[in-house]
Amino acid sequence: MNKQEFLAEYAVARKNTDSVKWDNLKETFDAEDLLPLWVADTEFKAPKEALEAMTKRIAHGAFGYSLTPDAYFEAYFKWQKERYGIELHREWMRFGTGVVQSLSTLVNLLTQKDDAVLVLQPVYYPFMKVIENNERKLVVSELKHEAGVYSMDPADIEAKITEEQVKLLILCSPHNPVGRVWSEAELAELLELCRQKQVLVIADEIHHDLLLTDKPFVSALEVSEGKYRDNLVVVDAPSKTFNMAALQNSHVIIPNPQMRQRYDKLVERLAAPAGSILGKVAAAAAYEHGASWLKGLLETIQANYDYVKEKLTKAYPQIVISPLEGTYLMWIDLSAVVDPAKLEIFIKNKAGLAVDFGTWFGASGAGHIRVNLATTPENIERAVTALVKALDENQS
Ligand SMILES: Cc1ncc(COP(=O)(O)O)c(C=O)c1O
Repeated sequence: MNKQEFLAEYAVARKNTDSVKWDNLKETFDAEDLLPLWVADTEFKAPKEALEAMTKRIAHGAFGYSLTPDAYFEAYFKWQKERYGIELHREWMRFGTGVVQSLSTLVNLLTQKDDAVLVLQPVYYPFMKVIENNERKLVVSELKHEAGVYSMDPADIEAKITEEQVKLLILCSPHNPVGRVWSEAELAELLELCRQKQVLVIADEIHHDLLLTDKPFVSALEVSEGKYRDNLVVVDAPSKTFNMAALQNSHVIIPNPQMRQRYDKLVERLAAPAGSILGKVAAAAAYEHGASWLKGLLETIQANYDYVKEKLTKAYPQIVISPLEGTYLMWIDLSAVVDPAKLEIFIKNKAGLAVDFGTWFGASGAGHIRVNLATTPENIERAVTALVKALDENQS
């Protein structure tokens, strides 16, 4: 499906639909009339086969306790194998109602109170919250960057692991917000270091279907032919790809049998939730039939990225825009054109936009904004026009 077909069939207005992104601006931004480009979900309906599958399940009418359908495992495993070469096994699979919920359970499983947990900043802020809310010690290694291109700093990571006696790393792959799809070599270096230093790894791969270049996604499960599987847990979900966050279904993939046993015990103790049947029915259909839909989505994201980049850098060549290898989240450094201390006020009050502010992702995000590109070209054009106008007024 191309972009035009995708937009014609799937674009949908979400204001007044109890959307966090559109209908809950006041709480975060203290304003209602902003154009929302923040929360990482989309203004697109899920693939029609997913909607049909849910409709059929709803028509049945009974929603008693349910199993994960066989069709789910088949469709998800095939999707992962054919697109990314990932080999999965049913016994590795556990389910949750969301990746963040599972991250919290896993931090409890894999560390003790006051243990040090490492993240690579700037990074998705719930990682920090999960660590701190569970009374673990947050340790940060800054990503290096040059002209908006980010990379890991293995020497610093090693130093932090040693100095702080790090027990766990939470990795974002692909990386929100800097848009990197980590190469196998980068992942292998990191995972080898963690193995040698006895640091366990959680790899959050929720963005892995959102690939904008021909750079391949390599799952932590497959790095060096699966060498690090025993040392890691992968969390993933269909929600980012197919816009199904509210359907509350996510994956926890644990190849190590001892770790799995301990996980099952903990989940029992916490009586932790394990996904929803509608979420599973929808995702099974999306994995089975959603490849063409995803192609339409990715074309839309790419066109939106190209548009924003062209317009912003033409007007203000000093603006630094990170290349978008993965995710639908654009990382923009406005520090050369807006005083970072005044950025939030400027974006809200002058440009009328609700975006994720860089500092949410760690102090090194100052001066940046994260723009969600998974929306209609009309919204993107409105946003860019408003931003450029506000910048023009700001300079004069
Ligand atoms: C890296 C990352 N992990 C997890 C999530 C949220 O996952 P969930 O809604 O399943 O908790 C997001 C959403 O933006 C994300 O970017």
